[in-house]
Amino acid sequence: MTASLAGVVDERGEVVAVEALGGGMVEISARLPHIAATARPGQFAQIRCGSGFHPLLRRPFSVAWTEDDVAAFVLAPVGAGTRILASMRPGDSLNALGPLGAGFTVDAEPTAALCVAGGLGCAPFPLLIRVLRRQGRPVTVLNGAATAGLLYPPQRFSRGDGGVTVVALTADGSRGMRGLVTEAVAANLDAGIAVYGCGPNPMLAALAAAIDACGAAPGLAEVSLEAPMGCGFGTCLGCALPVHSEADGAAWALCCTDGPVMPMATVAWEQLMNLPAPHVA
Ligand SMILES: Cc1cc2nc3c(=O)[nH]c(=O)nc-3n(C[C@H](O)[C@H](O)[C@H](O)COP(=O)(O)OP(=O)(O)OC[C@H]3O[C@@H](n4cnc5c(N)ncnc54)[C@H](O)[C@@H]3O)c2cc1C
Ligand code: FES
Repeated sequence: MTASLAGVVDERGEVVAVEALGGGMVEISARLPHIAATARPGQFAQIRCGSGFHPLLRRPFSVAWTEDDVAAFVLAPVGAGTRILASMRPGDSLNALGPLGAGFTVDAEPTAALCVAGGLGCAPFPLLIRVLRRQGRPVTVLNGAATAGLLYPPQRFSRGDGGVTVVALTADGSRGMRGLVTEAVAANLDAGIAVYGCGPNPMLAALAAAIDACGAAPGLAEVSLEAPMGCGFGTCLGCALPVHSEADGAAWALCCTDGPVMPMATVAWEQLMNLPAPHVA
């Protein structure tokens, strides 16, 4: 379903905290009352990076968690925009447009949930987990990264809640199980549960393949996808992703308004993997 722009606000707030989480990962929280009050799990904000012309365009970030009038984002300095954001200090001004996009489905059958996070794909899960736990649903998080220092801290998913189990996986075996996060899916997938995935698109393609290979079919399987974004609200058409359409067979959907969260079965994974790497001004 295409996301409505009705509740989207351009707001400027003060940075409250910038926490280094290890491995370059940073959690920024800022007073953004509208986004904090209205963001649903899986939605994102388009954040202005600095006040100059480079980078020109805002950058998209999942709303990681909210509390009172504060919204938080998790990121790592991978380019010009994220380097500016990671160097911010409490008291700085942060400009964010949001909440944007279609989030995760949380009003499905109240089944157990499996959250599969690859690296910075951890970002939308604290907010999602809070909502799922309020519904009384048991949650397992598969938290994967290349190495221990790049793992989002497990207590930030669970916040001391015993109903949340976090399983760590690292590609180099430095913490938890050795391997890719998708390799642990089969052992944690029961028929009928809800599966939510977020991470780089190749990881999500591997997640879809892993679920297909299991005998157990989830009741719900959704992924939060990545695409280069210009506007973030459906006008530039820069974020089109290949999908399956019942009417047309092959089609394109906009990551910013039809997504970023989409049903796993909707995505044309093979075509998605053949798209060129993103480039954003
Ligand atoms: C809906 C959505 C939610 C996101 N949420 C988060 C989040 O919570 N935390 C986080 O760290 N990152 C998130 N990202 C990715 C983040 O937006 C990019 O890493 C960021 O835009 C890079 O900006 P930059 O100026 O630092 O890097 P650039 O200099 O623009 O690029 C640096 C590298 O990142 C790649 N890149 C740039 N934009 C994107 C993009 N949109 N998707 C994938 N790769 C990209 C480039 O190809 C390049 O390799 C999200 C992306 C989307 C689409
Ligand atoms: S980012 Fe502009 S249409 Fe999606």
